Amino acid sequence: MAQFDLILLGPPGAGKGTQASRIVEDYSIPHISTGDMLRAALKNQTAMGLEAKRYMDAGELVPDSVVIGIVKDRLQESDTAAGFLLDGFPRTIPQAEALDDSLASIERGVSKALAILVDEDELVRRLTGRRICRDCQVPFHMVFSPPAEEGVCDKCGGELYQRDDDSESTVRNRLAVYSQQTEPLIAYYDRQGVLARIDGEQSPEQVYAHLKEAIGRP
Ligand code: AP5
Ligand code: ZN
Repeated sequence: MAQFDLILLGPPGAGKGTQASRIVEDYSIPHISTGDMLRAALKNQTAMGLEAKRYMDAGELVPDSVVIGIVKDRLQESDTAAGFLLDGFPRTIPQAEALDDSLASIERGVSKALAILVDEDELVRRLTGRRICRDCQVPFHMVFSPPAEEGVCDKCGGELYQRDDDSESTVRNRLAVYSQQTEPLIAYYDRQGVLARIDGEQSPEQVYAHLKEAIGRP
């Protein structure tokens, strides 16, 4: 297949956002994060954003119909012609089937599903210490990857903030929702022969080196 249609899978806090910014820079494909798109809708106070907030704050998934609609619209844009990196989508079997159907209708298909895997205790440490740039969405960590100046993004100078759903109790619920609804996608893509499992409990540089190996293109 000529296109370069990539999916990043993995539990909350595995490092999908961290690695996504490296991948899209190196391979010049757009980063499509449903989490970022939902938070942008909320910031703009759209009806959809306000509805999504109820689910996100509780650590639950936003209904499939809403998320599938957003992604289908986004994939119509011309910058996805040569490929894309989906981050945080699909998260349920119906989402994965909807993606397969819409790619198949334009004679495309998922080239690789990259699953970054990390243990639960480590995920809780990562998420509760995370800070995110309001402007460019790059994640930092107060202990593991602190910014040079406290509260300020190294990349763009934007203000860092803590996400509402990064409190410990919401994090625990997000992890439970992940194992019930999203983890089955690992077997789904394994059956399609496009799955790569990546050990996420290494430095971000090492994780990235393994991702590049799995992507298999220079
Ligand atoms: P979303 O925004 O997608 O969040 P998530 O999947 O929970 O993932 P995170 O962004 O929390 O983690 P990440 O894997 O990107 O980790 P990061 O790189 O930041 O979704 C939020 C909500 O939106 C959902 O709960 C749901 O309500 C809704 N939603 C979104 N998509 C949906 C969909 N498709 N269907 C339905 N609902 C949907 O890293 C985490 C921390 O660890 C950072 O501080 C980072 O600096 C640090 N770190 C990263 N890598 C390493 C490393 N190797 N070593 C040490 N620290 C590291
Ligand atoms: Zn920034």
